[in-house]
Amino acid sequence: MSSRSQVITCKGAICWGIGEGVKVEEIQVDPPKASEVRVKMLCASLCHTDILRTQGWAYPMFPQALGHEGVGVVESIGEKVTDLKVGDVVIPIYIAECGECENCASEESNICMRYPLMVNGLMPDGTSRISVRGQRAYHLFSCSTWCEYMVSDENYLMKVYPSIDLAHACFISCGFSTGFGAAWKTAKVQSGSSVAVFGLGAVGLGAISGAKMAGATKIIGIDINEKKREKGESFGITDFINPKDHSDKPYSQLVKDLTNGLGVDYAIECTGVAPLQPEALESTKLGRGKAISVGVGNEEFVKVNWIGLLLGRTLKGSAFGSLKPKSDLPFIATKSQNKDIPLDELQTHEIPLTEISKAFELSKQPDCVKVIIKI
Ligand SMILES: NC(=O)c1ccc[n+]([C@@H]2O[C@H](COP(=O)([O-])OP(=O)(O)OC[C@H]3O[C@@H](n4cnc5c(N)ncnc54)[C@H](O)[C@@H]3O)[C@@H](O)[C@H]2O)c1
Ligand SMILES: [Zn+2]
Ligand SMILES: [Zn+2]
Repeated sequence: MSSRSQVITCKGAICWGIGEGVKVEEIQVDPPKASEVRVKMLCASLCHTDILRTQGWAYPMFPQALGHEGVGVVESIGEKVTDLKVGDVVIPIYIAECGECENCASEESNICMRYPLMVNGLMPDGTSRISVRGQRAYHLFSCSTWCEYMVSDENYLMKVYPSIDLAHACFISCGFSTGFGAAWKTAKVQSGSSVAVFGLGAVGLGAISGAKMAGATKIIGIDINEKKREKGESFGITDFINPKDHSDKPYSQLVKDLTNGLGVDYAIECTGVAPLQPEALESTKLGRGKAISVGVGNEEFVKVNWIGLLLGRTLKGSAFGSLKPKSDLPFIATKSQNKDIPLDELQTHEIPLTEISKAFELSKQPDCVKVIIKI
């Protein structure tokens, strides 16, 4: 019998309920169905969105196999898989690109209509490939990378060059690329422009890189963690604001103070702190400023100043940095391969999968940007 038809029993990180963190459990991973691929994971990382999932965002669904950043090797494929073969090195992605639907055909969107974001934690056929203690477990989107094996539809997997640095592959599978794309594809930052980035985690540092690549000449990084000043400088900020040093002023005023009172051309919100969404909008130029909403939080609504919006500003949301995985991700992968972006700066901590619960504690340390999980 080929491995393709066998259930694999292995380890995976499972969240059992809101606030319960994650536990390494013995899980069963089903073989891939016709258009699916089973991947032996090699390495993964923690993104802030994983933390939100343990808090029940956006819909509570448990037990859930967590993790959505990572890289692995194709272990087996379904009989209708055409673009991948056993042994390929792949990164799981939660955004797909069929290339044919209205959004894929448009320059304006990366939200594929045929293969949507799997917010229900299931495969496109409405079922799961993972079980734990006799129960079906939800996937995290189309990923679940904190498992020794994961299954995804081939449309949610991106082949990468086999010699890719495993940590870099993890970073470009969500956080860093999301920020980079938010500047490059969502905001479409222009040469000579000014940009403010709120929050210098991997997403914000990606936004700084994208803005720098696009030729922005003023890049303001904003973070309450002073240690992010140096990180921001490695990626290309020209100015840093620590709002804790100016508690009497709103963030938008601090940005205006650095831009002759006018504000920036683009503000990219990467903290997920709800009141900072309107601040990002308010920190952009009247009549033309663009604020990009990238950060995610548990709140359902954000309030923005209506007049401030009416006066010609744009507020635009961005999932995975508006990147189309097949069309746009190779560009970022090549930049990483050529060492055009200092991705090594992102990796601050490393743990084995068996110590996954430590990842959440480590992420709270001021010097932490990314925790790598060796599988
Ligand atoms: N839209 C998407 O597709 C997408 C993809 C990935 C991540 N995200 C979201 O992007 C956000 C950033 O993710 P990350 O992994 O970089 O997170 P992170 O926790 O590593 O970084 C967040 C940064 O924001 C800073 N910060 C927090 N509160 C702040 C405040 N009040 N003022 C200024 N700075 C503050 C923190 O110090 C930290 O440096 C999260 O909300 C995450 O869920 C969205
Ligand atoms: Zn993420
Ligand atoms: Zn499509």
